[in-house]
Amino acid sequence: MTRGRLIVFEGPEGAGKTTQVGLLSAWLAARGVEHLRVREPGGTPLGDEARRLLLDTPGGLDARAEALLFMASRAALVAEVIVPAMARGALVLADRYFLSTYAYQVAGRGLPESEIRAANALATDGLSPDLTLLFSVPAQVRAARAAARGAPDRIERAGDAFHARVERAFAMFLSPNWQAGHPEAGPVVDVNGDGDAAAVFARVRAALGERWPGLFDAAAPAPAPGR
Ligand code: TYD
Repeated sequence: MTRGRLIVFEGPEGAGKTTQVGLLSAWLAARGVEHLRVREPGGTPLGDEARRLLLDTPGGLDARAEALLFMASRAALVAEVIVPAMARGALVLADRYFLSTYAYQVAGRGLPESEIRAANALATDGLSPDLTLLFSVPAQVRAARAAARGAPDRIERAGDAFHARVERAFAMFLSPNWQAGHPEAGPVVDVNGDGDAAAVFARVRAALGERWPGLFDAAAPAPAPGR
């Protein structure tokens, strides 16, 4: 059976992952590669409603309710969009997946890791990424990018200490020890997100090329998902 691939883009606020998902999507489209771009939360009717509640609720939201809303959005996205696309052999590019929950809700909010992992296993039905590109950028660069983006959403407003915990968690996910203890995360590689978008995109292609030699070379014909 052909099986597509799930490539996840992760990182703290302002790391530039959304720009890179867009560049990779355009690069694949120019080569006629079947792929799909998704983002969390969102991507289904339930997920879009959860996104509105999660990001736009003016007051507070209980941390457990917040975590479970992210999970509900994820469960719908996995079942209704990602799994069918992968079954067709498509490449799925995901702007955030469950490492964000591990960073924001476990490290950031302080929820118990074992319970979040169990809920996540239910939400994803065990679907692990084939590769996660984790973007790291110096804090000043991220702050400047975030400031340029306009009004912050509810999570962006959570405070410096919260975001420092999130950032430390993402850094920890790169350690071989952490990855050995969290096989559900699949391989997680660091991408230096500092510099202009084209320079970062060259690093993205290099990271993909290292994982799947030949498939992401500039001159190569369309990659064949499933190989
Ligand atoms: P979004 O506007 O997509 O932000 P970004 O461009 O930084 O990806 O908003 C998603 C926000 O939700 C972002 O602040 C990270 C947060 N988030 C969580 O807290 N937990 C999660 O599981 C996910 C997927 C996102």
